[in-house]
Amino acid sequence: MGDRALIDKYINKITCGDCYELIKELPDNSVDCVYTDIPYLYENGGLGHSEMCVRTARKKEELKDISSGIDYAILDEFKRVLKKINIFIWCSKLQLLDIMNFGGQNECNIDILVWCKTNPTPQTNNIWLPDIEYCVYMRECGVALNDGYDLKSKFYVSPANKSDKDIFEHPTIKPLQLVKRHLLHATQPNDIVLDCFMGSGTTAIACKEIGRQFIGFEISEKWCKIANDRLNNIDANGQISRFAR
Ligand SMILES: C[S@@+](CC[C@H](N)C(=O)[O-])C[C@H]1O[C@@H](n2cnc3c(N)ncnc32)[C@H](O)[C@@H]1O
Repeated sequence: MGDRALIDKYINKITCGDCYELIKELPDNSVDCVYTDIPYLYENGGLGHSEMCVRTARKKEELKDISSGIDYAILDEFKRVLKKINIFIWCSKLQLLDIMNFGGQNECNIDILVWCKTNPTPQTNNIWLPDIEYCVYMRECGVALNDGYDLKSKFYVSPANKSDKDIFEHPTIKPLQLVKRHLLHATQPNDIVLDCFMGSGTTAIACKEIGRQFIGFEISEKWCKIANDRLNNIDANGQISRFAR
């Protein structure tokens, strides 16, 4: 299949499958931006982790065995399919260093963008509140950023979006307004945005609403259906909503 036909096969669709396999089908230099929210790597499997105590008590490799995370080889695939490195990756704090190292090795400009949640779950044990989410942004020389005071802000303050969570059921759904803001800043009209870990489809909806194209992959059939329904304004419970969310 030629490059154009391969893009046509995946463009403006959320394809159900394993992104580590599907991304190999995408041609070199074919997308303008990667915007993705990877499976997080948690200390102690995310259960009652007690910050540095756990980290120092176990080797990193052992931690990887008890939580999911990603195979970082996919970062090289991102580089291959991108015209220029222009990557947003939501991740947990344990993944920040590996991702930023990739940016450093590729001479990227690197920023950490944050979502500050105003309603974190209270904690009873010896840890900080889980009120910040991190998104690493890496950009190669030559990627143009659009102007706009709000677009340029590195932080975003909002409650965890319980209503979207209720409607689309995904436990780690990201705020649509924030995703739109990031993409408006770092992409141009009709650019192609790749999200390999689409979840409930927030990146796809953001692209649709701001006039960008997207390629989406999601391994879970449940989330694939919910994300594709969401693109057609249908909630997780099958109800048609009047407004896209
Ligand atoms: C953090 S969630 C993304 C949530 C999304 N940002 C949203 O707003 O709904 C990560 C998603 O990656 C999916 N995933 C995990 N491994 C995958 C793989 N190998 N290929 C494609 N998707 C995968 C999971 O099923 C999960 O829905």
